[in-house]
Amino acid sequence: MGKVIAVANQKGGVGKTTTAVNLAASLAAAEQPTLLIDIDPQANASSGLGINSQKMTRTIYEVIVDGISPTDAALKTDLAFLEVIPSHINLVGAEIEMIDVPHRERVLTKALESMRKKYTYIIIDCPPSLGLLTLNALTAADSILIPVQCEYYALEGLGQLLNTISIVKKHLNQTLDIEGVLLTMYDSRLRLSNQVSSEVRRYFGDKVFETVITRNVRLSEAPSHGKPVLLYDALSIGTKNYIDLATEILRRDGNMTEAPANDPPVPATQGRAAFPAGPVAPPPAPASVPTTENGGVAGEPTVDAPRHDVSNDVPSAKLGQNR
Ligand SMILES: Nc1ncnc2c1ncn2[C@@H]1O[C@H](COP(=O)(O)OP(=O)(O)OP(=O)(O)O)[C@@H](O)[C@H]1O
Ligand SMILES: [Mg+2]
Repeated sequence: MGKVIAVANQKGGVGKTTTAVNLAASLAAAEQPTLLIDIDPQANASSGLGINSQKMTRTIYEVIVDGISPTDAALKTDLAFLEVIPSHINLVGAEIEMIDVPHRERVLTKALESMRKKYTYIIIDCPPSLGLLTLNALTAADSILIPVQCEYYALEGLGQLLNTISIVKKHLNQTLDIEGVLLTMYDSRLRLSNQVSSEVRRYFGDKVFETVITRNVRLSEAPSHGKPVLLYDALSIGTKNYIDLATEILRRDGNMTEAPANDPPVPATQGRAAFPAGPVAPPPAPASVPTTENGGVAGEPTVDAPRHDVSNDVPSAKLGQNR
């Protein structure tokens, strides 16, 4: 049975789409049959994979509102193990169109029932809101992956998100788990990034992924070429970061085939160059180490974290007041 992971945070621009697209591509490159579902009316994940869905008549909109089969809406991509159900701007109206639909939070759950058998991973890119679309994703998901941008006000709104998760768990999806909190757009040169990182780790503990996504210009360029980063620049730090994230998830799920112990170690650059060239299995990555854009090891934060206890007031935690 496939695992459904919703990439969600109602805060805008924190790296949800970048993470959904590149995690899905990295899982697919590891030969895991993967489906990416774009449930955001902005359709950034769709365009990021080179799909212009605006003239399409079989998108996630038709799946949710008209009840067409998701199999009919799934498109092939440049990666053999990756398929995508694109979004459409019409989805903006879905909330209103579904007002009379009974159990409207469970529409996606029902639609995905048949899809779980076909894929090992189903990754859902959510919109920046906690409305009906995100609610559908959280109800259908086994887990939520929460990207947190290493920037000002990083933790703002997380309390509201955690509250929504507990409401969903209580009323809609008892088994919803937190897959992990992912630090994104990390820059080890910035005191602020280090402050956010240590504060998030202090609050969420081992729920924070070991892998950290560094700020990398290749990650922001790749969507305009309609490609996940591993097909755009195989040697970029962004490619390495998302392969590390996929590896962390695969290992945890017991889906990672370890190389025999007597295999010679693969040099990092050689391995990365070979891995994304096609839909082939990645070399076993070492435990992930946050690196700077220039390839330096970022390591644990070395600066004093602000004396601000977020445990009582996550929603109002504002980091980076003192750079
Ligand atoms: N690690 C990164 N390094 C550099 N740029 C990044 C990185 N991650 C994301 N970006 C850029 O930051 C912007 C916001 O990222 P993204 O679209 O993934 O966020 P989002 O949370 O999906 O936004 P929205 O809430 O609007 O859906 C994009 O321009 C993206 O290319
Ligand atoms: Mg997005």
